[in-house]
Amino acid sequence: MSTQSFQRRKNAADLMRLKGQTPLVCLTAYDAPTAKILDPHVDLLLVGDSMGMVVYGLPSTLSVTLDMMIAHGAAVVRGSSAACVVVDMPFATYQESPQVAYRNAARIMAETGCSAIKLEGGEEMADTVHFLTQRGIPVVGHIGVMPQSLNALDGYRSRGKTAVDSDKLRRDAHAVDNAGAFAIVFEGIIEPLARELSPSLHALTIGIGASAACDGQILVTPDMVGLFTEFTPKFVKRYADVHQTICDAVAGYAKEVRAREFPGPEHIFAAPAAVRQGQS
Ligand code: KIV
Repeated sequence: MSTQSFQRRKNAADLMRLKGQTPLVCLTAYDAPTAKILDPHVDLLLVGDSMGMVVYGLPSTLSVTLDMMIAHGAAVVRGSSAACVVVDMPFATYQESPQVAYRNAARIMAETGCSAIKLEGGEEMADTVHFLTQRGIPVVGHIGVMPQSLNALDGYRSRGKTAVDSDKLRRDAHAVDNAGAFAIVFEGIIEPLARELSPSLHALTIGIGASAACDGQILVTPDMVGLFTEFTPKFVKRYADVHQTICDAVAGYAKEVRAREFPGPEHIFAAPAAVRQGQS
C-alpha cells in the first residue's frame, strides 16, 4: 500500500476547529489561475458575487446570475486543491423559499464541486439556513452590510450605529448561528459590536470592515492587490499595486512593438538549417 500522504481540501468541520485559535485567512477568487496563486496562503476562497462589479464591470451585484457563479465557482475549484471553496448564491436565487434555495444551492454544489455556499440575510433567512444545513449543504451566512439589499438598506453604510440597529444585528447573528451556519461574514459592522458578538457564537465570524477580534478576515482580492481601482472602501488595505504593474508591462510591450524590438530572436522560430541553405 502506498505511504504517500494525500492532501485533502479543507472543509467546514476543519475550519470550525479553528474557532478561538488562529484567525482564518480568506480571500475572494473568480478564476483558476488566481485561485492557484492564493490557494497555498488561505484557508477559504470565496467565489463572491462581488465578481459582478470587480470582474464584469457591473454597477452592483444584483444582476449576477446562477450560471455565472457556477462557471466561475467551477474554475476556482479546478485551480485550487487545499482551500475550502465557498460559492455565493446570487440575488433572487434563495430569498423566495427554502425549497428554491435548496434547488439552487444543490446545483451550485453539484456543478462546481465547492465545499459550501454563502447567502446574505439575518433573522429572515434563518429558516432557509436551517433547511439547507439539515439537508447536507454547509452554509456561510452574511450579515451587516448586505450588497444584495443595497436598495433597501441605505446603500453600503456601516451597521450597528444605533441601539435599534445593534439589537437587530444581535438577533440576526444569533438566528443564523442557531440555524446551523458554520461561519458568518460580518460586513461593515461597527467594531465593538463585532467584538462582542464573535465569541458568543458557535459559528466562525469572518470580518470585512468589522473587527480584528473576528475569527477570520476576508477581502476582495482585486481590491487588496490594487487591480480594481474604481473606488476603495475604507476597510480595504492595499498590499500591492497590480494596476501599476500591468500599466508598466503594457507600456513596455507597446514601446518595443512600435520600435520593432519585439519579438526578438529568442521569441521566433528559425527555419531548419536545410531550408536556410536552400536545400529543401
Ligand atoms: O461577494 C463578496 O465578495 C463578498 C465578500 C465581500 C464577503 O460577499
